[in-house]
Amino acid sequence: MINAVIINEAKDSSAIENIITTHDELYKAMSQAGYKNPAAKEVVSYRTALWHGYQLVQEREMLTTNMIIDIHSLIENKQVGIRKLPGTVLKNEATGEVIYTPPGGEQEILSLMANLEGYINEDLDGVDPLVKLAVIHYQFESIHPFYDGNGRTGRIINVLYR
Ligand SMILES: Nc1ncnc2c1ncn2[C@@H]1O[C@H](COP(=O)(O)OP(=O)(O)OP(=O)(O)O)[C@@H](O)[C@H]1O
Ligand SMILES: [Mg+2]
Repeated sequence: MINAVIINEAKDSSAIENIITTHDELYKAMSQAGYKNPAAKEVVSYRTALWHGYQLVQEREMLTTNMIIDIHSLIENKQVGIRKLPGTVLKNEATGEVIYTPPGGEQEILSLMANLEGYINEDLDGVDPLVKLAVIHYQFESIHPFYDGNGRTGRIINVLYR
């Protein structure tokens, strides 16, 4: 049951990033090693990342920057880590207009992530968890710590936050 929910979440969250697949393809990609469907494979990676994150949070009862980096590596299927080079911007894909330029520099990003980590794991500040969830998502996407996969990683954090 829970597995099916996670597969749906992985499929729909990936679809926002234009990684489109079907349940049929997903089940094939999960059951046949070397099955050739890039979109289905990416969704399977997303599912692995979400599941791994869930287990980490169960074990550690917290969500840390290193855990977020691990989750991101599973989504991307490689160890990419925090942005080190400048040039990442959020733009309107239709017009090319730059909407927002996230902070740059690995140290600055790590320091902002440490601040966010503190906020995520502070349970006694009296702020409604739903409000905190929204603030955490806004802040994470604003920091935009990775070159790519920030949307998907951020949506996994939403699922893991409690
Ligand atoms: N114009 C915008 N306004 C607000 N947020 C934006 C805008 N453009 C991008 N974002 C944020 O950045 C995320 C996309 O970042 P990135 O491409 O690194 O992640 P992704 O996982 O590859 O994409 P996706 O979010 O589509 O799954 C979006 O999900 C959203 O949170
Ligand atoms: Mg992207």
